[in-house]
Amino acid sequence: MARVDELVTTIVESGFSSLQVIADFDRTLTRVWYNGKECETCHGIMDNSSLMPAFFREDSNKLLAKYYPIEIDPKMSEEEKIPYMIEWYEQIHELIVKCKVSQESLEEMVSSSNARLRDGTEELLSKLHSAEVPVLVFSAGMGDILEQVLRHFNVYTDNVKVVSNFFKYNDKGVMIGFKGDLVHIFNKNENAIHSSDYFDKLKGRNNVILMGDSLGDIKMAMGVPQPSNVLKIGFLNDKVEERLESYMDNFDIVLIDDQTMGVAGSIVGLMK
Ligand code: TMP
Repeated sequence: MARVDELVTTIVESGFSSLQVIADFDRTLTRVWYNGKECETCHGIMDNSSLMPAFFREDSNKLLAKYYPIEIDPKMSEEEKIPYMIEWYEQIHELIVKCKVSQESLEEMVSSSNARLRDGTEELLSKLHSAEVPVLVFSAGMGDILEQVLRHFNVYTDNVKVVSNFFKYNDKGVMIGFKGDLVHIFNKNENAIHSSDYFDKLKGRNNVILMGDSLGDIKMAMGVPQPSNVLKIGFLNDKVEERLESYMDNFDIVLIDDQTMGVAGSIVGLMK
């Protein structure tokens, strides 16, 4: 506790010019539920969209039912889980390609979905934008959908960089595959963007507020170049009893079934 106090004090006192933010997307920037109904993730938006063929919904839900319990199984190690996660992504990606998704349809998919940002996310991101704090959104979801969600809620500002799985399109705007290396739940580390000019923006920003909902998210700050003060905020949304101990061991602050950005918002609210 004293260590967390010290970390928060250092981050607050160093101010915006030393800060960068790294956040997972699904169930971290977005809500888990709203009015008693589960909110859609990037994948959920496509799974439930009427613009997607029925076979996609059926097959992707079967894959979700098989692989999601493995993702959150507290008894399996990360090494044991990785081959299953790769298997999951490969199958789902193949399935999406079969659907011949048009780039044009994404806006409607997102606007008709029930995906929502956590309460206070717009305010937090707006403050970070005004203070020119770089924000990395690091997601094992689908970049094109995620970007559309950020646009939909007017928070995709020029200080925000997204690292995720992006669609490749043909010249008719039909999705034909994915670009670059696969980002899955357990290979998130900033090495994935070492070649990017985003790192130039991070010079002198030794303090990091990192937010995630999976133990895999802790790695998101691994590529930060300078020795850093990393405050890790973990959202524990599911299998709370079984996973609380490991979340407490790995995150500095653990928020149970919190649907807000209250904690990060109050820290940033103290900063100059
Ligand atoms: P995140 O990195 O933004 O949290 O996104 C990854 C989440 O997406 C992770 O919890 C697994 C989930 N997921 C689905 O819900 N459906 C899928 O088909 C796949 C491949 C992943």
